[in-house]
Amino acid sequence: MKIKSRIVATGSYLPEKFLTNFDLEKTVETSDAWIVERTGINKRHIAAENQLTSDIAFEAVKNLLKNSPIKAQDIEMIIVATTTPDFTFPACATTLQAKLGANKAFAFDVQAVCSGFVYAVNCAHNFIASSQVKNALVIGADILSRIVDWNDRNTCVLFGDGAGAVLLEATTEENSGIIACSLHSDGNLNAILKTSGGPAFNQKAGFIEMSGKEVFKHAVDKMTKSVLSTLAKANLTVKDIDLLVPHQANLRILNAVATRLQLPEDKVIITVQNHANTSAASIPLALDFANKNNRLKKGDVVVLEALGGGLTWGSIVLRW
Ligand code: ACO
Repeated sequence: MKIKSRIVATGSYLPEKFLTNFDLEKTVETSDAWIVERTGINKRHIAAENQLTSDIAFEAVKNLLKNSPIKAQDIEMIIVATTTPDFTFPACATTLQAKLGANKAFAFDVQAVCSGFVYAVNCAHNFIASSQVKNALVIGADILSRIVDWNDRNTCVLFGDGAGAVLLEATTEENSGIIACSLHSDGNLNAILKTSGGPAFNQKAGFIEMSGKEVFKHAVDKMTKSVLSTLAKANLTVKDIDLLVPHQANLRILNAVATRLQLPEDKVIITVQNHANTSAASIPLALDFANKNNRLKKGDVVVLEALGGGLTWGSIVLRW
């Protein structure tokens, strides 16, 4: 019987402190009206000064473990998708492993920016489907506030901090688990969304730099096409989708993709208004929100999709 992987638990964490659009009006030349109209964002959470990415990832996993069928000591693999690791090395995932006492696991990071969670889940699925492990913990966690230039109104209104986690387990059930995945990248487009620094380039993390209109265009086009091609791989169509859980970049991108797919609004999970773009954390935050609000029923067709710097993009079709 074919082994697949299935999400069996979710968890998430948003730091306590948050900045509203009105707070930003006091520091850069912007307005709540502009931000809401262009992005749909109302607020973004900001990690405390002493919080690192592994700390917020740990909080998300603690939240997940409350509803998990297994304990931290039984986890076999940990992948953290992040662009803002605590250090250049060691990986955030091994630090998290130590905090969890998940001694049986091996752990590593995946860096695909806002697509990181989709990349990491696809990786974990392949490890499980090939029987190398029986379960995997996948976390998307980012503290983008540390690489945002808070004087740049073009970018600072868009991003926030957060973490989300899922636990995947092996299953042979027909009507459950990941059915198809697609990952893509095009390094020729890396200049439209990048940081100004890096460990090898100038020993600094740098700030986010972005050509907003270019990113917008590619995001809508590429995420729509990716969803359609992954659905086709799964022998499904848009009509079969029960829930689309997109990367929460901004409301206009989410709406444009849903319109192109001709997917009704009530089938799209939207949480971006509450936490802005949290990069790799945004899909697991939205998925945990959907799960905790009983929006996911056994057997539902759920689609995850993302695009991020690189450019990288991809989608996953699964049955809940
Ligand atoms: N407040 C007020 N005015 C602003 C702000 C702000 N925060 N930011 C930019 N403006 C100004 C610009 O300076 C410009 O002024 P000008 O006409 O005098 O030059 C004007 O608003 C219009 O700017 P545009 O860039 O044309 O605005 P646009 O409608 O394209 O919206 C936005 C900008 C929201 C960034 C849009 O391009 C977008 O959503 N892009 C996608 C970006 C994104 O989501 N990136 C996240 C990472 S990638 C991902 O996650 C998919």
